[in-house]
Amino acid sequence: MLTEAKLKQKQIPRHVAIILDGNGRWAKKRMMPRSYGHEQGALNVKRVAELCKALGVEVLSVYGFSTENWQRPKDEVDFLMDLPKRFQERYDEDTLEEKVKMHDIKVVFSGRRDRFNDYNRQLINEIETKTKDQTAFTLNVCVDYGSQHEIITAAKGVAKDVQVGALELDQIDESRFETYLYTKDLPPVDLLIRTSGEQRLSNYLLWQNAYAEFYFTKTHWPAFRKKALYKAIKAYQNRNRKFGKVGT
Ligand code: IPE
Ligand code: IPE
Ligand code: MG
Repeated sequence: MLTEAKLKQKQIPRHVAIILDGNGRWAKKRMMPRSYGHEQGALNVKRVAELCKALGVEVLSVYGFSTENWQRPKDEVDFLMDLPKRFQERYDEDTLEEKVKMHDIKVVFSGRRDRFNDYNRQLINEIETKTKDQTAFTLNVCVDYGSQHEIITAAKGVAKDVQVGALELDQIDESRFETYLYTKDLPPVDLLIRTSGEQRLSNYLLWQNAYAEFYFTKTHWPAFRKKALYKAIKAYQNRNRKFGKVGT
């Protein structure tokens, strides 16, 4: 049986990113509305974050809403773009013991902020400010996130800095470019997990996944619990990461 202790004997990925897919299918199987799947999916983020933290993962990125998800029915979009509020409400209701578990988690958000309503935008900013010094573990919540939009925004930032003379053309390299991305303070992704069977990136962390190991599972996101996570980490530990070199 896979245990936390056993996994810790080998290299733990510093940055795990998960495409949280299959909420809708999970709910449908239970003859429940898609929103129920999203709610249970959101609750599962907390569980998996705690498990990752206990394993010694430094950063967990989760993809909760993509720039393409605006094409879904309005009620579903409204529900998903309101998740920060629902999340906060749940947290407020948590017991002290539950709150302690979240205590040293720094929460950051990646994605556009201009399309949230004022309440959720302010909430996101508040959560980031409140948790900014809690550095034991970072939860990077990607909402209204699209990697191509992120890269274009970064390119515009670079162009602007060149234009005003703050940056020389020769100074632009990979590490400089990264400082214009949402993830500027985070290490690159080591392990990318996608639940629910699809094997595609759907515009997620295209730059940051450059050398990530990919892991796909048929398990729907709300059902992705400890055993499934440990299996993914174990698979990662059996990979031979070469980064272009000859390898071992
Ligand atoms: C993932 O679940 C959550 C979001 C994309 C917001 P889906 O809503 O994509 O679930 P399926 O793929 O329809 O089952
Ligand atoms: C990707 O899931 C986006 C998120 C998980 C937030 P989708 O369900 O939207 O992706 P596609 O449409 O199947 O590629
Ligand atoms: Mg989906």
